Amino acid sequence: MTRLTIRRPDDWHLHLRDGAMLAGVLPHSSADFARAIIMPNLVPPVVTTAQAEAYRQRILAALPKGHDFTPLMVLYLTEGTAADDVEAGFRSGLITAVKLYPAGATTNSHGGVRDFSKVTAVLERMAEIGLPLCVHGEVTDPAVDIFDREAVFLETVLDPLRRRIPGLRVVLEHVTTREGVDYVRAQERDLAATITVHHLMINRNAIFAGGIRPHYYCLPVAKREEHRLALRAAATSGDARFFLGTDSAPHVDPAKECGCGCAGIYTAPNAMACLAHVFEEEGALDRLEAFASLNGPAFYRLPPNEGHLVLEKRAAPVPVPDKVVTGEGTVTVFDPMVPVHWTVSARTA
Ligand code: NCD
Ligand code: ZN
Repeated sequence: MTRLTIRRPDDWHLHLRDGAMLAGVLPHSSADFARAIIMPNLVPPVVTTAQAEAYRQRILAALPKGHDFTPLMVLYLTEGTAADDVEAGFRSGLITAVKLYPAGATTNSHGGVRDFSKVTAVLERMAEIGLPLCVHGEVTDPAVDIFDREAVFLETVLDPLRRRIPGLRVVLEHVTTREGVDYVRAQERDLAATITVHHLMINRNAIFAGGIRPHYYCLPVAKREEHRLALRAAATSGDARFFLGTDSAPHVDPAKECGCGCAGIYTAPNAMACLAHVFEEEGALDRLEAFASLNGPAFYRLPPNEGHLVLEKRAAPVPVPDKVVTGEGTVTVFDPMVPVHWTVSARTA
C-alpha cells in the first residue's frame, strides 16, 4: 500500500505553550489534527475555567486562516481546585478533562498534587459527572529509579485511586511500559491510555547513542526495547483502549541543549508520517485510523471527525522537517533515526 486515507486524526495529549511559542508551533498541529487535548502546564498553570477560556481564546487567535482546529481544554488539578468550578466548566462544554500531575513529576508540575486526600472531593465529582482525568503516571520519589517510576505509580497510586473512586474515568497518558499496557488491558471499564509516536519509535538507547542526545529526552523517559515492543503491539492491536496522544512538547533549542536540558520531544510536524511508518512495519496500516482517529473520540464520547487526511508513501525517504522557527527561538523536530518514506499529502476539511 502506498496511499492511505483516514478520517482526520486528533491528538489526545498536546503541549502548545503560549505567546510566541504557541504562534510558532500551533500551525504544525492544526494542519493535520482536527482537535487536541491541550495540556495546561503553562507558567502559571491553567487551573480555573476562567483561565482555560482565556487560553482557548489565545489559541484560536493564533490559528492560521483556513485551519479547522478545536482545542479541547483541560484544567490543571491542584490541591485547591474547586469541584463546582470544574463541574461548571464541564457543563458549559469548555472543559474536556482534568489533568493530574504528581507534584514535581515533570515540566511545570510543581503546582500539582502532593496529598491525594486533598483532591478526593473533586475526583468524586468527576466520577459522578463522567469527566475524564488525564494522569501523568509517574511517582516522584527520588528513591525510585527513573525507569521504574511508571510501574511503581500503577501499583501504589493509580490502582488504589481507581478503587477508592469507582466510576472515575481515567486516561493513563503517554504509557511507556509493558506493565502499563498490561494494566490497561486488564481493566474492563473507565480506563484508557494514550501512546506517543516517539515511544513507538525509540527506546532508551536513543538518548545515549554515541553521546548524550537531549532531543530524545522526555518524561516519561523512553524505556527498554521490550517495552517499546509492548507499546507497538497495543497501538496496532485495534484495542479501543489505546489511542494517539503525541505529547509533542516544544522547548527552544538552548533549553534542550545545555547542562540541564528540559524534558520534551517535539513531534507535531512529522507525527502522522512516523505513525504510518510504524503501522506499516507492524503490518497494521488498516488499524491506523482506529488508533489515530476513532478510539480517542469514542473514549471521550465525541463524534469522529468528518474530514480526511491522505498519507502517501514516497519512493525516496522524506527528510526530517527543518527546525521550527518561533518568536522565542528554534525548536528541533523529532528525528526518528530511521528513514521514513511516508508523508501527509492531502487534507480535507
Ligand atoms: C512535557 C512538557 O515539556 O511540558 N514534557 C515531556 O517530557 N513530555 C511535560 C509532560 O508531559 O510530562
Ligand atoms: Zn505531556
